[in-house]
Amino acid sequence: MRTLDSNTSLRIAVQKSGRLTDKTLNLLEGIGLKFDDYKRSLLVKCLNFDVELLLIRDDDIPEYVEDGVCDLGFVGGNTVAEDEADVTILRGLNYGVCRLSIAVPKNENINKPEDLAGKKIATSYPVLTRKFFESKGIDVNIVTLSGSVEIAPRLEIADAISDLVSTGGTLKANGLIEIDKIFDSETQLIQTNKPLSEGKQQLIEKILQRIEGHKKAAESRYIMMNAPQESVPEIKKIIPSLKSPTVMPLADNGMVAIHTVIPLSTFWDVMENLKEAGATGIVMLPIESMIV
Ligand code: PRP
Ligand code: ZN
Repeated sequence: MRTLDSNTSLRIAVQKSGRLTDKTLNLLEGIGLKFDDYKRSLLVKCLNFDVELLLIRDDDIPEYVEDGVCDLGFVGGNTVAEDEADVTILRGLNYGVCRLSIAVPKNENINKPEDLAGKKIATSYPVLTRKFFESKGIDVNIVTLSGSVEIAPRLEIADAISDLVSTGGTLKANGLIEIDKIFDSETQLIQTNKPLSEGKQQLIEKILQRIEGHKKAAESRYIMMNAPQESVPEIKKIIPSLKSPTVMPLADNGMVAIHTVIPLSTFWDVMENLKEAGATGIVMLPIESMIV
């Protein structure tokens, strides 16, 4: 029998199938890790790094990482917090964003957590939910369910629920409204607290650096434009990040081409101002990756 030997490849836990799976695999591929077809196996070898993925249920990930069966894990912050796992959170990742909220049937005249005193709350997150009500000194009965929490009020199993909300579609479809938020969540990259070899530690550093570069790239755009030479000082003012833009003379008299990188969030404002300053042919391109 082949045992799971954690002294060899850096083993990363990823949700087997769910809302984080594709985004996590896209991220790993986006930072240059190549994998065989991961749909077919639970243990997937990385083709170009000493890394392997273990595809498991998201709820199991914190424990696998805590025990050192996996060295790293990509998992929702809600799951890490609920599990109270002894792991290190390396960084948050801005996908899988959701919140754990309290919701009640519409028209029940329950508007705040205090209105739930003595009532039953169905949830798959008993730890976080209990902590929330305890911190407010409200006594409630927690009913732990492993799934389909949103139908508990209709089945009269509970008066309210505490469940994850992302788009809000599930609540709406079940005639429920949010009355308070317990926990904000996004995907987290977690690391085991068990000692790791120097090689693994270095690989983790590299992965973190690449994730940072990937994030910067996703949040930036490469822009190119043409402008009259005399507009360059004005254009530099519009793009404060532009310390040393690439400015190239064009064949046209007195015209230059300017290339630079800007934060995506400023793109529309910047573009409108550039146009006013005399820039023409403004083109924006996505960036694949950036070393920062
Ligand atoms: C959560 C939650 C709801 C749904 C809410 O389940 O339990 O069913 O997502 O999302 P919405 O606001 O976009 O409708 P999830 O898909 O994460 O599955 P899991 O709890 O079984 O892991
Ligand atoms: Zn789950």
